[in-house]
Amino acid sequence: MDIQNLLEDITGAVQPQIGQGQVAGYIPQLGAVDPHQFGISLVTKDGEVFSAGDAHVEFSIQSISKVFALALVLSSDGDGIWKRVFREPSGNPFNSLVQLESEDGIPRNPFINAGAIVVTDRLLSLTGDAAGAVRALMRRESGNALVDTDHRVATSELESGHRNASLAHFLASCGNLENPVDEVLESYAQQCALAMTCQDLALAARFLASNGLGAEGELVLSPAQTKRINAVMLTCGTYDAAGEFAYRVGLPGKSGVGGGIVAVVPGKCAISVWSPGLGRSGNSVAGVAALDEFTTRTGWSVF
Ligand code: DON
Repeated sequence: MDIQNLLEDITGAVQPQIGQGQVAGYIPQLGAVDPHQFGISLVTKDGEVFSAGDAHVEFSIQSISKVFALALVLSSDGDGIWKRVFREPSGNPFNSLVQLESEDGIPRNPFINAGAIVVTDRLLSLTGDAAGAVRALMRRESGNALVDTDHRVATSELESGHRNASLAHFLASCGNLENPVDEVLESYAQQCALAMTCQDLALAARFLASNGLGAEGELVLSPAQTKRINAVMLTCGTYDAAGEFAYRVGLPGKSGVGGGIVAVVPGKCAISVWSPGLGRSGNSVAGVAALDEFTTRTGWSVF
């Protein structure tokens, strides 16, 4: 298969979707991004890289960081995190408050904001610098030592982040935070505000397509943990649109409100797409369309 040609074809095919949807205005810095951009990169499990469109433009990875924070917690702390967060789809928006109260402060899964705040809290306890740990993982796996937090985005999120603050305070009231609320929220905002390109992200996610094997030949996760993290991405990675994403794309995937999505073809490749316009559930409209094209044309889905 000529993958380079395929990515260029897909970039052409999704032109009508680029610019559709809304940019994430609830974080003011993200609201200022030009929506008329689209990038796609694919990295095979052996490390071959293909890119098209705006694949070398940096964007805010936002919730995609949650996968990498979870990987770090699972690899150093084993299954303990599952006592503090479930792994079922929520069927609710990513920043919803309602379920958390009725389920006694145990978030539905590690990818909604409440669950990710618990994961970051654990990573902060384990490392003393949760965002720094995610950044180091990203730098090592992408091979790009310049990957860094965009502090304007982190500050913008913290200044406007009343929902995450309420989730974190509620978690604390239920005894499900180990660190002070402000420290956890700051770490979480910094990890979400990492700026990366499609190519950086596809390279960084390669271990999810290669049974946990990282860029330097090290095991980022065991094969069993990799299988499980991919399963949670499939069922929970795109929030209350996870059913629609499975129907259209049929791959484990994780979106972010910066407009990025990382998807995994287990045993074959990692793909990263980016276009800032979001649909109702916070997933990139053109990004989902591109991944739909990709699995429809290649037959590379898990179904
Ligand atoms: O906590 C937030 O609201 C953002 N930092 C991340 C949300 C996000 O990316 C949801 N994904 N589609």
